[in-house]
Parts: sequence; structure tokens; C-alpha cells
Amino acid sequence: MPVETRAIAGATVHIFPDSEAACHAAANQIARTIHDAVASRGRAVLGLATGQTPLPVYRRLVELNRAKEVSFAKVSTYNLDEYYPMAPGDTQSYRYYMEQHLFQHVDLAVNAAHVFDGTVPASFANEYAAQVDGWIAREGGLDLQLLGIGRNGHIGFNEPSDATTDEAVKLPSRVMNLHTVTITDAAHEFGGEGDVPRQAITLGVGTILAARSILILAFGARKAEIVAQALRGPITPKVPASLLRTLPEGRVTWLVDHAAISAVAG
Ligand code: F6R
Repeated sequence: MPVETRAIAGATVHIFPDSEAACHAAANQIARTIHDAVASRGRAVLGLATGQTPLPVYRRLVELNRAKEVSFAKVSTYNLDEYYPMAPGDTQSYRYYMEQHLFQHVDLAVNAAHVFDGTVPASFANEYAAQVDGWIAREGGLDLQLLGIGRNGHIGFNEPSDATTDEAVKLPSRVMNLHTVTITDAAHEFGGEGDVPRQAITLGVGTILAARSILILAFGARKAEIVAQALRGPITPKVPASLLRTLPEGRVTWLVDHAAISAVAG
């Protein structure tokens, strides 16, 4: 249970005592979304995130699946991003992360778990990413998108940009050059900045914003400054998470701990 809930700039912000409790609540919300979507249209389509932040979400979803409290049999998943280029079996790939933490432990069909293929030819990668947008649309759109936030405000790998807000909110899935902050933050996983891929394929801001509901997780003091900018600063593609505020009230829920919300004045 959150210790406090605030309405900030059209978003609901649930504040939890710790990240574990917040991730538990996120997993329960995902399970409820699956039940409701399967009950109403026979399937559920989820947008998933990787990184450190959502790990306990996947642990809890695996527990719920084992306890038969949620089934993934009628679920399709689309991951936010994959490094480019990247082999799916590489232990640093997001495909590998998802297999390790969720896919191999639950009753999700192998052809329903989509992570961008980091081996597509460079000349075809943007076209391929746009095709994935088409698959999501044909599946009826994302019922729920799970997000983390980068220290530079990125969502997925939509990095800060000089685009106009009107352009940015429509951006399709595509190849992105990674921002220096993203490369620095990924360095420990790759054994040094020099080995971090310089590009990724990401779901676009437009694809993310089209989700029927969005859960965004942020924990720890290192996220406090960017959470404050996303919630209280200008709505700008320079802070991609601030673009969530272009959505109607009620679509976006933040799940945070005290440290992550500490720079947002009451
Ligand atoms: C991951 C993703 C990224 C992360 C963000 C935070 O699929 O799209 O936007 O959510 O970089 O990463 P962590 O959770 O490691 O702090």
C-alpha cells in the first residue's frame, strides 16, 4: 500500500516506503490489467521495461503466475528497447534479461514475447521498428506500458532532443543514438563505456503515449532531480518523461519511493 498518494500535474503519484513495496503494487496492477483486458477483449498487450528498477516487478509476476493468480496464456508483450547491434543470446541483451527474469518462468507463448531484434540490417532497422508499431496497433494497442526513467529523463531509449513537443509526441519506434548519460549509466554492465553499444532500437514516444495506461517507476535519490523536472518542469522533449504530461488526467501513474520524490515540493 502507498503511504501517500498525490495528484501532480494530471498524474497520480503513489509514494511507497520502499521500491519493493512499489514493485509489488506494480505487479498487482499488471495482473489486474491482464484479467480485465482478457475478460473484455480476449487478450492483453503489455509494454515492458528492463533495467534495475523493474526487477522486483518480474519476481512478483512470476510468483503470481506460479500461484495461478495470473496467466500469460492470452498475453502479448512488447519490450521498450534493445541495444543495437546486439545478438539476442548475448548476456547483455534485453532479450536475455527478459528470458532470465520473466519469459522462461511464465506461461507466455514464445511467439508472443517481442523484444526488438538487434541483428536486423542497419539499412532496414527503422523500417523494422515501424513494423513493430504496426503489430502493436493490429493487436489493439498496449493495455499497459511499464516504464522506468533515465537520469536524463529518457523513457525507453527516447533520449532528450531538440524536436518540438508536437513532433516528439508522435515519434514512432526507431533507431536512436544513445545519450552520453545513458552510455555512462550502462558502462558497469558492459565493463566500461567503450563497450556500450552506441545505438538502440526503441519504442517511440508516440507508441508509448498511445498505451491505455502507463505505470512509471522511479526509486532512489539519483532519480530525484529528473523526477522533479518531469513532474514540475516545462513539458519539453529535452526531458522526454515530461511528455507524459501531455496525456489526459488518469492515464499515467507514478510509483515512487520517498527518495525519488524528495525534490518535488508538496
Ligand atoms: C529500459 C528502458 C530505460 C530504463 C531507464 C532506467 O528498458 O527503457 O528507459 O527504464 O534507463 O533504468 P534503471 O531502471 O536501470 O535505472
